[in-house]
Amino acid sequence: VSRLRVALLTLGGAGSLGALLALSGAISVKASSGHLSVTAWMLDLVKVRSVVTRSFAIDVPALDQPELVRVGAAHFERGCRPCHGLPWQPRPLVPAHMTPHPPELAAQVGRWRPRELFYVVAHGIKFTGMPAWPALQRTDEAWAVVAFLRQLSRLDERRYAELIESGRDTATLDGERALEGELARCGACHRPDHHAVPRLAGQSAAYIRATLDAYAAGQRFSGVMQTVAAALDPAHRAIVAGVVTAASAPTDGRTLDPATGLVAAGDPARDVPPCASCHGPNAADRDPRFPRLAGQPAPYLELQLRLFAEGRRGGTSYADIMRPIAERLTPDQRREAALAYAHMAPGGR
Ligand code: HEC
Ligand code: HEC
Ligand code: HEC
Repeated sequence: VSRLRVALLTLGGAGSLGALLALSGAISVKASSGHLSVTAWMLDLVKVRSVVTRSFAIDVPALDQPELVRVGAAHFERGCRPCHGLPWQPRPLVPAHMTPHPPELAAQVGRWRPRELFYVVAHGIKFTGMPAWPALQRTDEAWAVVAFLRQLSRLDERRYAELIESGRDTATLDGERALEGELARCGACHRPDHHAVPRLAGQSAAYIRATLDAYAAGQRFSGVMQTVAAALDPAHRAIVAGVVTAASAPTDGRTLDPATGLVAAGDPARDVPPCASCHGPNAADRDPRFPRLAGQPAPYLELQLRLFAEGRRGGTSYADIMRPIAERLTPDQRREAALAYAHMAPGGR
C-alpha cells in the first residue's frame, strides 16, 4: 500500500510540476525557432505509430487507374501544392515558416503504405497544420489523391502540367470557347473518359448553378468540388454554370432511347415513382432544377444513388425530393437505373 502511495504522490508531483511549467509560460510556442531535434524525433514517432496502428484495417481499392490519378492531381494542385509545393518548384514561402513545415512530398511518400497515406490525407495531423479532408462524409475521395501521390516521384514538370490541364480535344467543354483561368481547368476532371465524374455539357444551367452554390455552402459533400466551388464568388459561379452547360453534349447521333423498366414505371410495390417523370426521357415540362441523367457515366450515377441512400449526398434545396426515393431503391435497382440512363443518348430530356 505504501508503495502505491509513493507512486501516486510521485505522479501527482510530476503532474503539478507539468502544470506549473505550462502556467509559468516557460515553454516556448514560437514557430520561428523550430523544434529541438529530440522534440521533432518524438513527435514524428508518435505520428508514425498512430497512423500505422489506426490505418491497419483499411482496405485499399485499385489505385492504378489513370482517371483516379488525374482527379487526384487536379485536387493536389488546389488543395495541397500551396503548402507542400512540388519537387521542381521553389518551396512555397509562407508555409515554409510553419513548425513543423509541410515537407515536399515526393521524398516522403515512400515511407508510407497506401492505406497510411489515405489515413493521413483523410484525417490530417493534429498540432501540425496538416488539414483533414474538406468533406468528412466523402473521405472515399481521398483515394484519388493517394493514387496521384504514388506517381509523384516519377513525374516531371511537363507530365504534371498535362495531368492538371484539360485536354482541349477531349474536354467536355466546348473547345471553341476561350475559357480562362479556373474555368479552363474544369475539364481536367470533367472529361468524357472519366467514369467517376459527371458530364456538364448539356446539363441544365439552373441545376449546375444551384449545385455549385450547394458545394460552396457545404450543403453538397465533396472535398474535391467544395474546394473548386468555394474558390469562385457567387457571380462567377453563375457565369461558369452558363458556360459549362452551353457546350453541346457530345452525341453519337442516336435519338433518346425510350425509357423501360424501373425508369419508365418505377416500382409501385416500394412506392418508387417513375424516374422518367422528373429526369426524362420525355419529361416535357420538367423543372430545370431536376438534373438530366441521360449519358452520365453509370458508376457516377450509381455512386450518387448510394450516397443519397446513406445520407452522404447532400445537394440543393431540391435534394429532399430525391433522398427518400433513393432510400427505397435496392442496390440492384440503383445499378439498373444507373445503367439504363448511362446507355441513353446524352443531353436529352
Ligand atoms: C495548410 C498547409 C497544408 C496543406 C493545405 C496540406 N498539408 Fe500536408 N502537411 C502539412 C504539415 C504542416 C504537415 C506535417 C509535417 C510533419 O509532421 O512534419 C503535413 C504532412 C503531410 C503528410 C505526411 C508527411 C510525412 O511523411 O510525415 C502527407 C502525406 C501530407 N501532408 C499530404 C497532404 C496532401 C495530399 C494534401 C492535400 C490534400 C495536404 N497534405 C495539404 C501541411 C499541409
Ligand atoms: C479536381 C477535379 C475536378 C475539377 C477541377 C472540377 N470538378 Fe466538378 N466534379 C468533380 C467530381 C469528382 C465531381 C463529383 C462530386 C460528387 O460526388 O459530388 C464533380 C461534380 C461537379 C458538379 C455536379 C454535377 C452533377 O451532375 O451533380 C458540378 C456542377 C461541377 N462538378 C462543376 C465543375 C466546374 C464548373 C468546374 C470548374 C470551375 C469543376 N467542376 C472542376 C471533379 C472536379
Ligand atoms: C419527383 C422528382 C424525382 C423523381 C421521380 C426522381 N428524381 Fe432523381 N433527382 C431529383 C432531384 C430534384 C434531384 C437533384 C437533387 C439536387 O438538387 O441535389 C435528383 C437527383 C438525382 C441523381 C443525382 C444526379 C447528379 O447529377 O448528381 C440521380 C442519380 C437520380 N436523381 C436518380 C433517380 C432515379 C434512378 C430515379 C427513379 C428511381 C429518380 N431519380 C427519380 C428528382 C427526382
